[in-house]
Amino acid sequence: MNVVITGANRGLGLGFVQHYLANGWQVWACYRSECEALMKLDSEALHLVEWDVSQDQDPCGLLPDTIDLLINNAGIYGSTKGGQSLDLIAPDDMLEVFNVNCVGPLRVVKYLKDRLIAAQGVIANVSSKMGSSSDNSSGGTYAYRASKAALVIVSKSMAVDFQAYGVRVITLHPGWVSTDMTHHSGLIDIETSVAGMTQVIEHVEDYELGQFIAFDGAVVPY
Ligand SMILES: NC(=O)c1ccc[n+]([C@@H]2O[C@H](COP(=O)([O-])OP(=O)(O)OC[C@H]3O[C@@H](n4cnc5c(N)ncnc54)[C@H](OP(=O)(O)O)[C@@H]3O)[C@@H](O)[C@H]2O)c1
Repeated sequence: MNVVITGANRGLGLGFVQHYLANGWQVWACYRSECEALMKLDSEALHLVEWDVSQDQDPCGLLPDTIDLLINNAGIYGSTKGGQSLDLIAPDDMLEVFNVNCVGPLRVVKYLKDRLIAAQGVIANVSSKMGSSSDNSSGGTYAYRASKAALVIVSKSMAVDFQAYGVRVITLHPGWVSTDMTHHSGLIDIETSVAGMTQVIEHVEDYELGQFIAFDGAVVPY
């Protein structure tokens, strides 16, 4: 089985890589610029691909002809100044975060769609509960919240559009996880989050089309 993972050099992406290698998959681990941790894994089933999802670049020559699973994991939080408050959020910051977190997964899917259709594969888009309108009681965080909310909608459209081709699409919330993004302040570790999300992916058929699902299997209202 072939899996392609973006943002795979650290954090949750690296956790996904380790999970699928341990389960005997061929893993295409995509990284933006730095791949030291991936190189340490030293596995014949691991294929490294430099891919910055914020750019229009076609890495298809380095990827497999059929893709059973694509995990759109790469993401950024954006500025941490003042919790991205209304006064401090800059339009350029917002556009950069939107480009990586929402346009990035769309770009990746546009490049890989024929290979996903060939395998009747699964697309897992890693969003965040921060993108849930129902869950937003504290405001602020304009760039991150908006980009992840937009990804939920993009992911749902993908789910509808791919249905006829036998490709399933799911949107994931990893939980609040100890990674660089949360300055290691999360409530759960990477292993717990990845173990949960990979279970959700494995049981994608049990969920409604394009549902937004947390690592523990709970439906995230948005
Ligand atoms: N941690 C949490 O609690 C949490 C909660 C909800 C959702 N999420 C989501 O889960 C995903 C992974 O987060 P994480 O916690 O593992 O964050 P992380 O530790 O900051 O890792 C982010 C990963 O994304 C990569 N990336 C960033 N911009 C990229 C680009 N333009 N092209 C390709 N790769 C890029 C980073 O690569 P570089 O090393 O090159 O920067 C890194 O590998 C993100 O989408 C995040 O929004 C995380």
